[in-house]
Amino acid sequence: MLKRFTISMEEELLHDFDDLITQHHYKNRSEAVRDLIRGRVVAEEWAADKNVMGVISLVYDHHQNQLQEKITELQHDFHHQIVSTTHVHMDHDNCLEVIIVRGLADEVQRLANSMIALRGVRNGNLAMSSTGKHLH
Ligand code: NI
Repeated sequence: MLKRFTISMEEELLHDFDDLITQHHYKNRSEAVRDLIRGRVVAEEWAADKNVMGVISLVYDHHQNQLQEKITELQHDFHHQIVSTTHVHMDHDNCLEVIIVRGLADEVQRLANSMIALRGVRNGNLAMSSTGKHLH
């Protein structure tokens, strides 16, 4: 059974999404959204219990109230998974943080998701890779 729901997004992002829809020949936005969600669900299932190394990158506004503290707190909560962190001051407002992580894919994903979801994080990404062997 199909259910309907409403999505809100910035005009610019919607414009980019429509370009993507055209490039990939989707019939409409619903079809494209379904495909994106399915792809994401499969990727999460696939990676759930593997040992991985990953790179989390975050772009955020350091003026956002308490954001820096929350990011640091999360990194201490997950200190067993964090190999190293590099902070770059991009310009007057924006910071780039690159965090190298290792551990079970679901732990690494949980850490990345928690940071990316923080208010004030403009852009966040997790890239995971695995050797196919145990990394310890
Ligand atoms: Ni900075």
